[in-house]
Amino acid sequence: MVIFGAGGDLTKRLLVPALYNLAHTGLLPDNIAIVGVDVVQQDAAAWQTSLHGMLQSFLGDPQSESRIDRIDESVWAKFTARMSYVQGDFSDHGLFELLRQHLEELDKQHQTGGNVLFYFAVADRFFGPLAEQLGHAGLLDEQLHDGQPQRWRRVVIEKPFGHDLESAKALNARLLRIMREEQIYRIDHFLGKETVQNIMAFRFANGLFEPLWNRDHIDHVQITVAETVGVEHRAKFYEITGALRDMVPNHVFQLLAMVAMEPPSGFDAHSVRNRKADVFAALRSVKPEDAVRGQYGPGAVHGETLSGYHEEPGVAPDSSTETYVAMRLSVDNWRWAGVPIYLRTGKRMTVRLTEIAIRFKRVPFAPFEDTDVERLPPNWLVLQIQPDEGISLQFEVKQPGPVVDLAAVQMAFRYRDWFPAEPNVGYETLIYDVMIGDQTLFNRADQIEETWRAVQPILDAWAKEPAGHFPNYFAGTDGPQAADALLQRDHNEWRPLPRT
Ligand code: BG6
Repeated sequence: MVIFGAGGDLTKRLLVPALYNLAHTGLLPDNIAIVGVDVVQQDAAAWQTSLHGMLQSFLGDPQSESRIDRIDESVWAKFTARMSYVQGDFSDHGLFELLRQHLEELDKQHQTGGNVLFYFAVADRFFGPLAEQLGHAGLLDEQLHDGQPQRWRRVVIEKPFGHDLESAKALNARLLRIMREEQIYRIDHFLGKETVQNIMAFRFANGLFEPLWNRDHIDHVQITVAETVGVEHRAKFYEITGALRDMVPNHVFQLLAMVAMEPPSGFDAHSVRNRKADVFAALRSVKPEDAVRGQYGPGAVHGETLSGYHEEPGVAPDSSTETYVAMRLSVDNWRWAGVPIYLRTGKRMTVRLTEIAIRFKRVPFAPFEDTDVERLPPNWLVLQIQPDEGISLQFEVKQPGPVVDLAAVQMAFRYRDWFPAEPNVGYETLIYDVMIGDQTLFNRADQIEETWRAVQPILDAWAKEPAGHFPNYFAGTDGPQAADALLQRDHNEWRPLPRT
């Protein structure tokens, strides 16, 4: 495994902890060799020391979700014995020649069968050039025999994959000139989350829900990805990205696909990705009037004063980058015709919460005295992705007592009540899948292009008319009021975000 961007944040915070967790659970092959590549002048020992320090500080961090209790030094020692470091500049052909020789030596030493996983943990401007350098150096050659690779060469590409439809298409074309689609693993880390993968199991391993999963029974769907963090130290990236590009065509649409897809004929990559691609292809391009943007101003949470986006380090004082987006989507097929799907995502919101809420239609008639159908709360099925992973169903019961009074109650399943927590940073499954050559949880070229196509009208409209009304929500609140109006048009309202 070759990691480009070995000194970067992603490698330190997620990749190496995930690899360590895989090693700890015995899922890393014994003959693996891990090569870090970066421009920083250091040796393997210095690289390992910085990684060890990062892993340790993770453990001391109460916010960390890594759930690693402490570093098992014997596992770490075995793991680092397999690590080497190559210093160089990605634009230098010499680096790739050096890398080729190094990989040949490692192959002899560890019998890696010539298989190499290249991980691009670098800024997106390097994706195309890096792939080309690898191609020119012959490092992506799989030596096909009867269409089957004699050895595999796979490339993992992080997000953002393009910044609009045109650039995504151009990047796909550039990569596909050098390698086959089967070699490309476009990662979306939301698909590494257990609860996201569980949506398929929930829908297709239970006979109960699927018959109700359509326009006859579902009134609408709300997808919420609320974050409490602000832009943090990522202004350089975020200023030119914004909430829409950062979250919607990738993470939020992945959640949508899991909820809206037809049952696949099998759980292999081909079948699952085809059914997800159908959803993206049926997604109507979003009209500007069906989207709302927002930007947080100063605010306070639990007595702590929070700066507005304009005051964050590295942000232009008149920036019109959105930190919040809400949309109304339509999936044009038989299952979903006429069912609005609303999504909202934003930074500096009231709580950290990712959930998919399915609202079922009301009963047609309520045979209870003085109870209008309209006053009966509807049934909600909520798939909670994070932080408290689980599934809950809200329904009506009669309150005990001589009069018929109804009350909404919940039946709830929480992962942590049933299963022990596994050490997990969310990348373990994804890295493991690349190693075994399973592309199910990775994006295909056509999927990426369809998702950008769906949001392109909004990108165009917003670029033409920068927001003049920012900031329009206080940090630590539920987002701008205009997002409420989006649902009120359909006589709906957002589920209130819980207060902590
Ligand atoms: C990243 C975005 O892809 O996902 C971030 O760039 C966002 O802005 C993050 O905070 C959310 O991921 P998670 O796993 O923390 O919910």
